Amino acid sequence: MEKISLLPEYTSSSPIAVVDSGMGGITVLRKLHRIMPNENYIYFGDSANSPYGTKTTEQIRKLTVKAVEALMERGAKSVVIACNTATSAAAAYLREKYPDYPFVGLEPAIKPAALSAQWPKVLVLATPLTLKEKKFNDLMARFEGEAEFIKLPAPELVGFVESCNLDSPEEIAYLEKILEPYSGNKVDAVVLGCTHFPYARRQIQRILGDEVLVFDGSLGAARQCKRLLEEAGLLNDSAEEGIVIFENSDPTKIEKCKFMFNYKG
Ligand code: DGL
Repeated sequence: MEKISLLPEYTSSSPIAVVDSGMGGITVLRKLHRIMPNENYIYFGDSANSPYGTKTTEQIRKLTVKAVEALMERGAKSVVIACNTATSAAAAYLREKYPDYPFVGLEPAIKPAALSAQWPKVLVLATPLTLKEKKFNDLMARFEGEAEFIKLPAPELVGFVESCNLDSPEEIAYLEKILEPYSGNKVDAVVLGCTHFPYARRQIQRILGDEVLVFDGSLGAARQCKRLLEEAGLLNDSAEEGIVIFENSDPTKIEKCKFMFNYKG
């Protein structure tokens, strides 16, 4: 593959781009904004092509690379691939093609969950594609001596979040159905391995039980982005709060993205 080291010009006031198949990456954008409020952000949701998690690796790679390269060309100083599914399908390809560019990816928080107790039982909720991919299975294999993992695909939860159908009777019934075998503190930890799922965090905790530890990778990814920009001398030193721009391949979703960004649930 041709490696491209000549990158577009960007400065510390250039935006950080955040991409996802739809609304889920807003859970990561919220963490980025919390720890770096002075940065400018472009959030791109590919809702017209959502969900990604039931597509093939090749389809997801194409969609992700197209979205990411368009944002790089517009001068984004970092791209956060705020989607576990898109990261497993496209991050290695993008990192190889642009070895000098600060990409941040999302991956299920397997390590902290596996190390959270002595031989914990860890439920991993993610999309079918994430759970099938080699990247995830290699990561899980590294911690197989530390924990027992149970993989549980939850593709329909993506749809509830995409339609902002949060805490609805339908969403609750779906979660109660798939989580029923694990409810009542039968597992020690749950990994939210899809960026859409933190929007259902409260319901998941309620159904699984109060003692179950919940892990999601969004804060870790936001911190990683900050670290990379710091190292590159590209943190925005403006004293003012930055701007957040929402873009979406389905323009009817833009107002919904703003709602999800400010959602207090
Ligand atoms: N938000 C994505 C993730 O983190 C996937 C949702 C989808 O299936 O589109 O895995």
